[in-house]
Amino acid sequence: MKVSLFSIASLLIASAALSSTLPVTNVSQSSKVLSLPLIAQKRSIASHPRFGRRSLNQDLINSAPESADGPIIYTPGLYDYIAFSVPVSIGTPPRDFVLIFDTGSADLWVPGNDCSALDGCPGTAIYDKNASSTWSPSEYKFNITYIKGGAVGHYGTETIKLAGAQLEKQVFAYVDQVSGPTANQSADTLVFEDGLIGASYPHSTQMYFDYGVTYLPFHEALYAQKVISDPLFTVFMSANSGQGEVVYGGVNTTLLGSDFVYTNVIQGYDPHNKEQTTYIGWFAPVTQIVLNRFTDSPTQITFENYKGMLVDTGTTNIILPRVEVAKIVEAVVPDAQLTSYGWYSVACSKYSTSTNTVGFDIIKSGATSDQTIHISVGVKDLILPVDYDQDQCMFGVVPDQSESQRNYLIGNIFLRHFVTLFHFGDNRIGFAPLSAAALNM
Ligand SMILES: *[C@@H]1O[C@H](CO)[C@@H](O)[C@H](O)[C@H]1NC(C)=O
Ligand SMILES: *[C@@H]1O[C@H](CO)[C@@H](O)[C@H](O)[C@H]1NC(C)=O
Ligand SMILES: *[C@@H]1O[C@H](CO)[C@@H](O)[C@H](O)[C@H]1NC(C)=O
Ligand SMILES: *[C@@H]1O[C@H](CO)[C@@H](O)[C@H](O)[C@H]1NC(C)=O
Ligand SMILES: *[C@@H]1O[C@H](CO)[C@@H](O)[C@H](O)[C@H]1NC(C)=O
Repeated sequence: MKVSLFSIASLLIASAALSSTLPVTNVSQSSKVLSLPLIAQKRSIASHPRFGRRSLNQDLINSAPESADGPIIYTPGLYDYIAFSVPVSIGTPPRDFVLIFDTGSADLWVPGNDCSALDGCPGTAIYDKNASSTWSPSEYKFNITYIKGGAVGHYGTETIKLAGAQLEKQVFAYVDQVSGPTANQSADTLVFEDGLIGASYPHSTQMYFDYGVTYLPFHEALYAQKVISDPLFTVFMSANSGQGEVVYGGVNTTLLGSDFVYTNVIQGYDPHNKEQTTYIGWFAPVTQIVLNRFTDSPTQITFENYKGMLVDTGTTNIILPRVEVAKIVEAVVPDAQLTSYGWYSVACSKYSTSTNTVGFDIIKSGATSDQTIHISVGVKDLILPVDYDQDQCMFGVVPDQSESQRNYLIGNIFLRHFVTLFHFGDNRIGFAPLSAAALNM
C-alpha cells in the first residue's frame, strides 16, 4: 500500500451490483491464459530488507539483533521467502528483469540507466530508453513513496513481454533513484529483484494519485489487448519451496484443493473526487478476526461493521493496529514478548508445533446478510526465524507502526496457504485451499 492512499478515510462497501454467479474456474479450452513462474529466494530474515508497505517489516528486519561474532547462522529450513517475483522483459531489443509481484500497488517500475548503485540500483539489469526502439516518453514523472523508501523516475510506454506474450505501448516507469528493499540487495543475490510490478487497480496507480490520470496496469492491459480472455489472475506462492505461479486469465486447477469462495472487493473514496467511490485496491471486507476457530473456545475480535483489509502479495506479514495484535497475541502466542523494534518475539521451538490458528471472517460475495467466508492458517505457519541460535522467531502478525493505526493488511505469509483469485471484471477476490500437489510443491 502506498503511503499516500493510507490517508484516505474509511472504505465503503461495494454497491449493490453483485458479481455474476458463474464459477470462474470454468475456463474453457479456448481461453487464453498466461502462466508465469513466481520465484522467491530462500534467505535469512535479518539480511533481507523489505519493500514499501512492506517497509514496516524493513524497519523490523534491519533492527533485528545480530550475534556478536558476525552474521547469524541460520539452520536450513528455517529460512523464509519474503517477496515473490516474476520474470518480465521490456523494450526492443528486450531486456530481462525480475519484478516483485505486488497486489498492494499498481505501477510497474525498473531501474533506468541513470540509476547507479549509489542511487539505489545495485543490479545489472538496467533499462536504457535510448537503446530501445519501442520506448515513448510520457509527460508524467513517477514518484512513489512507500512507508519507508520509494522510487523516483519517469513514466513512459514500452513493449513488454512475458511468457511468450507481448504487450505494446504499456505504461511503465524507469527510475533514477530507489530506496528501500531492492536498493539494499547484494549484487550476487540469487534471485535479484530489479523492480516491482503492481497488480492493483488503475485508481491505485501513482499517476492517478498525482495527476488524476489513470492507465491500465499490466494485468488489465493484458485483458484489454485480448492477450487473456478473462479479467482475472490467480496467485499461488508455495510456503515450502519459494516457487509459485501467477496465471493471468485463468486458474491452474491442479493447485486447487476445492473451489473458490468469494468476497466482493470494497471501494474507497476517490482522492480526486471525494463524492465518488471507486476501487482503489484489493480490499476485502473482514467482519471479525477469529482465533483458534476449530476449538471449543475460539476468540473473536468483532468489528462494528467491517474493516477493509488489503490482500497484498507484496507484503510478508499480517499488519494490524496495535490493539488488535495485542488481543491476537494474548489468544495464540500468550508468552510472546513485544520487542523494542515493535514486533512480537516468540520461541521458535514452542510455536513451530502450535495448533493455534489465526483466521478471518469475510463478507461473502453476493450475501445479503452477514454471511461470511472463513479463512484460517496455523500459528506455526505465521512465525519467522530471527535468530535461531537464540530460539527467537518473529510472530508474523505485526503491529501497525503508523500513527493512524488504520492499516489492515493480509500479507503473503497468510496467502501462501491458498490459491488467491483476483477478479478485476467482477471485483471479487476468491480463496481456495491448496491441493495435495500444491502443498507438496
Ligand atoms: C462450470 O462447471 C461446472 C462443473 O463442471 C458445471 O456444473 C457448470 O455448469 C459450469 N458452468 C458454466 C457456466 O459453464
Ligand atoms: C538519450 O537520449 C536523450 C534524448 O532522448 C539524450 O538527451 C541523451 O543524451 C541520451 N543519453 C545517452 C546516454 O545517450
Ligand atoms: C518525491 O515525493 C516525495 C514525497 O512527496 C518528495 O519529498 C520528493 O521531493 C519527491 N521527489 C522528486 C524528485 O520529486
Ligand atoms: C540501503 O541502500 C541505501 C542506498 O544505497 C543506503 O544509503 C542505505 O544505507 C542502505 N541501508 C542499509 C540498511 O543497508
Ligand atoms: C499447474 O500446476 C502444476 C503443479 O504445480 C504444474 O506442474 C503445471 O505446470 C501448472 N500448469 C500450468 C498450465 O501452469
